[in-house]
Amino acid sequence: MICRNNRERQGMREAGRVAAKLLRSVGERIRPGISTAELNEVTRELMGQAGAISAAYHYGSKKNPYPGYACFSLNDVIVHGIPSRDIILREGDILSIDLAVFYKNFCGDNTRTFRVGQVSPSADHLIQVAEEALMAGIQQALAGHYVNDISAAIEAVALRGGYSIVREFVGHGIGHEMHEGPQIPNYTLSQKGVKLRPGMSLAIEPMFTLGSADIQNDPDGWTVRTRDHSLAVHVEHTILVTENRPEILTLP
Ligand code: MF3
Ligand code: CO
Repeated sequence: MICRNNRERQGMREAGRVAAKLLRSVGERIRPGISTAELNEVTRELMGQAGAISAAYHYGSKKNPYPGYACFSLNDVIVHGIPSRDIILREGDILSIDLAVFYKNFCGDNTRTFRVGQVSPSADHLIQVAEEALMAGIQQALAGHYVNDISAAIEAVALRGGYSIVREFVGHGIGHEMHEGPQIPNYTLSQKGVKLRPGMSLAIEPMFTLGSADIQNDPDGWTVRTRDHSLAVHVEHTILVTENRPEILTLP
């Protein structure tokens, strides 16, 4: 559990802002008819122009490194969707783009679920509730609170919306590395967890589903989807715990 000094906080702010601008720019390219491979290509180009290095590209094992510059998870895909020429967006789809970069040696990580044109009321509500849960979790990221306070706030919003919470993936500390301690589950545990202190930087990332939260791994070794093929949502911000209100670092 690392607490950042002022210089490091500034570095995290810069990395967060770059990640957020990139996510917004890639999101602006979403339209019916575009493939996730094309969006990945846009991501690669924009990261290069920004001087940012993809945290996802070649992440994981040497045997099966992640091949994309960001993760593109469509409809029933929860996380780690691999970009493909064959995955073409259609009106009514929802697409989660998880974009993390290293910028000047600090990492910024953020995710949004985008609507492709007009989506069904149920898809729309799922996204709305996930965004609400993320903000509720962030509001609990106060010095003196515990990790479980964040988890409980996220869980409460999900359950009130009637959605299932994916348990296999959790939020995380973030800094020079993309994944640092502590883990931040999107559901409560019996322990309070780590006590939050000023200078901790955290990636908070709820994932909910419209049906069951059971997951299924594709043969590609990355793509994770709902077993019942119900829609999934994923939203994420990198934040900084401060002496006062939490600071959202991944705002453009
Ligand atoms: N940004 C994701 C996270 O929050 C990780 C994606 S990188 C991948 O943990 F290589 F695993 F896809
Ligand atoms: Co993350």
